[in-house]
Amino acid sequence: MSSVRKVTEDLYWVGVNDKRLHLFENIHPIPDGVSYNSYLLMDKKRVLFDTVDWSGCREFLKNVEEVLDGKDLDYLVINHMEPDHAASMEEVLLRYPNCKVISNERAFMLMHQFGFHVEDRREEVKEGDTFSFGKHKVTFVAAPMVHWPEAMVTFDTTDGILFSADAFGSFKSLDGKLFADEVNFDRDWIDEARRYFTNIVGKYGPFVQFLLGKAATVPIKMFCPLHGPVWRTDLGYYIDKHDKWSKYIPEEKGVMIVYASMYGNTEAAAQTLASTLCDKGMTNVKVYDISKTHVSYLVADAFKYSHIVLASVTYNLEIYPPMYEFLHHLKTLNFQKRVFGIIENGSWAIKSGTLMRDYIETELKECLVLNAQVSVNSAPDETNEPEFQSLADSLIESIQKQ
Ligand code: FEO
Repeated sequence: MSSVRKVTEDLYWVGVNDKRLHLFENIHPIPDGVSYNSYLLMDKKRVLFDTVDWSGCREFLKNVEEVLDGKDLDYLVINHMEPDHAASMEEVLLRYPNCKVISNERAFMLMHQFGFHVEDRREEVKEGDTFSFGKHKVTFVAAPMVHWPEAMVTFDTTDGILFSADAFGSFKSLDGKLFADEVNFDRDWIDEARRYFTNIVGKYGPFVQFLLGKAATVPIKMFCPLHGPVWRTDLGYYIDKHDKWSKYIPEEKGVMIVYASMYGNTEAAAQTLASTLCDKGMTNVKVYDISKTHVSYLVADAFKYSHIVLASVTYNLEIYPPMYEFLHHLKTLNFQKRVFGIIENGSWAIKSGTLMRDYIETELKECLVLNAQVSVNSAPDETNEPEFQSLADSLIESIQKQ
């Protein structure tokens, strides 16, 4: 008995789910867990595509053993050397001494760095090389910076299956449902898929575009990623999401309001703007308390919405630290092509508005800050009313122009 599932007649999912890990990469919360996917092809040769995180090694080895059913393992293909996928390779090689490792030069270098010594098992491949395992033929395609430099994807030309490494992945544990068409992906998964992509691979949009371009030249019938469900239907839906995310194009016309408030006054200003926008008919508005929301969720919705309003108190004559951290994350993720609005607050030296405007204009690419701005002196009052109206009007006008 195991959690193994059949992907096709001779391909098996032998991965594991992880619901114990709190922080993916020790930084991003994963309240719904994550899966580490590994696939075993039972052709004339038996081929394992990637392994799993060390935490799931025991269950993974049991899955592999069950599918092999006494047969030997011939090849281990390493598409990505990050330890959440490669940490169990040493254990695989110990148990299957005849198994050769297929990967590229950079990946072999990383194996050495991580302390995996596979010199006598090495089958080095490069872009465009092919391999036959019997009925199945595969070709290897470099996917640098999706999401590490050594990353590659493997295309099974016999069945049209792309072993896509980190591409087309998602947070969330599979909990038995292997295929995207076995869940309501657009309702229950897309937010976590977006959060996975934007925070893990978001910085490398141009490289993802490069890979999407290569993928468009081959007849792909299925994506087998290293996290999240396998895609065998409606691939265009998921490709379109990745195309938008990697081009930094918003998915929706809407306003994301992120506030940093110490005593509730900046929060009140953020809520006033939200009400003003909704009063005027712009109801696709989402409001976040930055102090209560992990930055990975803010990053994900920044990629989703067309317009972002930052409302920040002034703190030690600077931007409130979590707001600064959010902006810094956007910068490091190469975030671009958005329209921003500003609400600032301060009791004796209001600085946050100017500082946020400067940061956006100098550090983020192709981002515009609206001239209309709300300046609160300690607490919003009736003197701010024209500013709220003007900022809401400017946001709506900008949304309508897009
Ligand atoms: Fe899921 Fe880049 O490793």
